[in-house]
Amino acid sequence: MLNKEIKEIINKAIKDLYQDIEIPNFVVEWPKQKGRGDYASNVAMVSAGKLNQNPMEIAEKIRNKIDTIAEYKEIFSGVTIANPGFINFEISDKRLRQNLCKVLRKKDRFGSSEIGKEKVVVIDYSAPNIAKPMHIGHLRSTIIGQSLYNIYNFLGYKVIGDNHIGDWGTQFGKLIYAYKHWGNKKEIDKNPIEEMTKLYVRFHKEVEKNKDLEEFARHETKRLQEKNTENIKIWKYLIKESLKDYNKIYKTLGVKFDYVLGESFYDGMLSRVVNDALERKIATKSEGAIVIALDKYNLSAFLIKKTDGAYLYTTTDIATAKYREEKLRAKKILYVVANEQALHFQKLFASLELLGICRNTQIEHIKFGMVLGEEGKKFSTRKGETVKLDELIKKSTEIAKKVVEEKNPKLSNKEKKKIAKIVGLGAIKYNDLSQNRLTDIAFNWDKMLSFEGNSAPYLQYTYARINSLVEKYNRAYRLNRINILDKPDFGLLKEDMEKDILRQLIKFPEAIENAARENLPHLIALYIYELASLYNNFYSSTPIIKSEMQVAKARIYLSKSVAITIKNGLDLLGIDTLKKM
Ligand code: ARG
Repeated sequence: MLNKEIKEIINKAIKDLYQDIEIPNFVVEWPKQKGRGDYASNVAMVSAGKLNQNPMEIAEKIRNKIDTIAEYKEIFSGVTIANPGFINFEISDKRLRQNLCKVLRKKDRFGSSEIGKEKVVVIDYSAPNIAKPMHIGHLRSTIIGQSLYNIYNFLGYKVIGDNHIGDWGTQFGKLIYAYKHWGNKKEIDKNPIEEMTKLYVRFHKEVEKNKDLEEFARHETKRLQEKNTENIKIWKYLIKESLKDYNKIYKTLGVKFDYVLGESFYDGMLSRVVNDALERKIATKSEGAIVIALDKYNLSAFLIKKTDGAYLYTTTDIATAKYREEKLRAKKILYVVANEQALHFQKLFASLELLGICRNTQIEHIKFGMVLGEEGKKFSTRKGETVKLDELIKKSTEIAKKVVEEKNPKLSNKEKKKIAKIVGLGAIKYNDLSQNRLTDIAFNWDKMLSFEGNSAPYLQYTYARINSLVEKYNRAYRLNRINILDKPDFGLLKEDMEKDILRQLIKFPEAIENAARENLPHLIALYIYELASLYNNFYSSTPIIKSEMQVAKARIYLSKSVAITIKNGLDLLGIDTLKKM
């Protein structure tokens, strides 16, 4: 990776110049301003204090030193300094060409690495609650979680995707009661979640007429917890049927899990967790309940056992973290859960610290904002219910089909349909993944499905366009009987636009690493969008096949590399591509 090599060279230069001085942390990054080289470092600025020298002076010295290092010529075509002390690096043509060969050689592995080797990352995502429809928050969690899964996997980590479904808790008493009295197995088999929701709604209606039902439901919960055979049977059935519905969604989205260890899985571990916390005086009794005091963290107490003896979501999460640390050997755990639960995770992480759980495991809440509708309000249907995923996909696909029809009326209906499905689904995912997850995101159909601008169709279309170009080239050359095996001369790529593309290509592995370091998939989206834009500028202003034969060849290979990189990027976002559109 170039940024690391540059860091090494800087360190080497400093060592030569200042011997044993310890240099504070500095960065080597892509400059935000154009015309400032490909990489910039603030090393001179951060060491000014320590060296008691002016940053420009230090920068100058480092620059001169780097000039004498042999590898320099291989990597840079120029190193310059700029106010107030930046050192800017310009990558050499040779290096850019080498990278181009690397893209063509590594193909679908271009951008991958081994930095995560042997390290286990557990990603907790999706996690819907049994018998309830997945809402848009679960959908976001599913899409973001799967993308992080792909990214870490590409970097060589051993990734474990765990669907922590909500399959335990007091709601089951109500459902079991409702099922026993009004349930219809046939209907549930046909439409699991819809029917279960109906049962739930019915229960709440009936309770208004007859308050005793609350008590009956509690009784059913209790019997479930005591492992009563009939209740366990109904409970298992409700889970199985719900998963049938969820799995349909996962299949459509192309999402997979390594484990589905729901809340119930940890039930047997909860009393130990609480007793242990009590014995070690980390938890205390408070008005009959058991809590972990978190004053030290300026947080309110973490309730882990209720006065009625019931354990909670919180208790389960402690047991889950312990399990992931001890049994799954996680070095990192990512909880992909909406912003709304930020406080829960703050308290959970503080409690884990007190308990000494996950001491050597990095834990992080991967939070995300809401989805806002076209008018900036919370995204929902007219009736105010949350949007159902299949309806969302249906609508997206319909709009995509219209757009495809306009763009490419000659295609067969079957082809149009296939394209519309991939474009429609891609648009939904990309809308989610191209915006910074930390903010609320907008849901705008026109923008999402536009073939211009930062959208999935734009990228998918760029990819398809390059493929047809390459095909056309191959056909032309077969006709001309020209040997296509001889190596292209990449030295012919001299235009500014070509160089810009080459410079962008070399940064792909870093874009992936940045996305993983900050758990921000949109950094990859941004990267491929910039690459596609650079390419499309080039494509629309420069003859490719029609240029001189050797130039044409070099340009085709350049185009191919762009296609490879766009596809790899979209793959990481879980978005499919088509050779033809
Ligand atoms: N089932 C929960 C919900 O829908 C999300 C669970 C997230 N994972 C966790 N380990 N707490 O809100």
